[in-house]
Amino acid sequence: MSKSVLQLPVIERAEAARQVVRLTLQAPEWARAARAGHFINLLVPGRRDLLWRRPFSVHRADRSRGTIDLLVARMGRGSESLAECAPGDHLDAIGLLGNCFPFDPGLHEIIMVAGGIGIAPFDLLLQDVQGFSCKKSLFYGARSAGDLCRSTLWAESGAEVHLTTEDGSTGSRGLVQDELRRYLGSSANHAGRVIYGCGPTPMLAALREMALALGIKGYVTVENRMACGFGACVGCAVELAEARRDGQKYLLACKDGPVFPIEEILFHD
Ligand SMILES: Cc1cc2nc3c(=O)[nH]c(=O)nc-3n(C[C@H](O)[C@H](O)[C@H](O)COP(=O)(O)OP(=O)(O)OC[C@H]3O[C@@H](n4cnc5c(N)ncnc54)[C@H](O)[C@@H]3O)c2cc1C
Ligand code: FES
Repeated sequence: MSKSVLQLPVIERAEAARQVVRLTLQAPEWARAARAGHFINLLVPGRRDLLWRRPFSVHRADRSRGTIDLLVARMGRGSESLAECAPGDHLDAIGLLGNCFPFDPGLHEIIMVAGGIGIAPFDLLLQDVQGFSCKKSLFYGARSAGDLCRSTLWAESGAEVHLTTEDGSTGSRGLVQDELRRYLGSSANHAGRVIYGCGPTPMLAALREMALALGIKGYVTVENRMACGFGACVGCAVELAEARRDGQKYLLACKDGPVFPIEEILFHD
């Protein structure tokens, strides 16, 4: 699908969790075409001082209504303003951008691992794999119960959900990667499993280590800081674990990603 710049009407706004807002945008073409991993680049309305667009994953697509949902976590000036958008506002958006999570219908288990706002692409992933008979497991961690963005799709899709919170207020106390490590440790056969991860860098690094140690295939979507969003500024470089034959040592999250095979890239704090 070719990229376009659209003015998208905001049709709903809801608080999804502490400091996270869900925006529903009318975008019929993107609702049809979006797959998990795709993102859009938004101009921050009313902020002429913020020149660079801000990237947001497509969180959910309602193909019959022609809408897409975004989860916007309040991180700084841009996301604070975007989170204040209300029905009736219009957002200037470029999309659809990036690649998406690959799947193989022969998989035995899809293991999604989300840390914090890294939950954003996984509703769409659950929608993408709805027709697959494989087991779907979602590991999702946040600081506290109020920081978790819950979704009706978890039950509808039959996903087995493992929640963790750092303060133990919901689910297991601790980090999501530790819960996953326990889960994987309870079985010796990992054939047909795939891990999909999105979240903070230490979580992605831990997933990489587990996947390599256990021989599990995996993909991550990275949320590097971006500026131009189309490969011009080299501000979103991702380091390759092994240089390519032509000596290339870096890829660009905006142009080559944001989804990468877990073994291909390195994570640095
Ligand atoms: C492909 C992609 C998909 C994304 N999807 C989502 C999403 O679905 N929902 C969502 O809430 N956010 C998402 N992000 C992150 C989001 O784009 C940033 O949080 C946002 O651009 C920050 O802008 P700001 O003006 O609010 O922050 P700034 O004022 O620019 O910065 C405020 C603080 O946030 C930190 N920060 C800024 N950008 C990032 C980043 N990319 N990652 C981590 N810390 C950052 C800065 O270091 C600073 O400490 C995504 C990023 C990428 C690259
Ligand atoms: S954001 Fe400019 S090259 Fe990726």
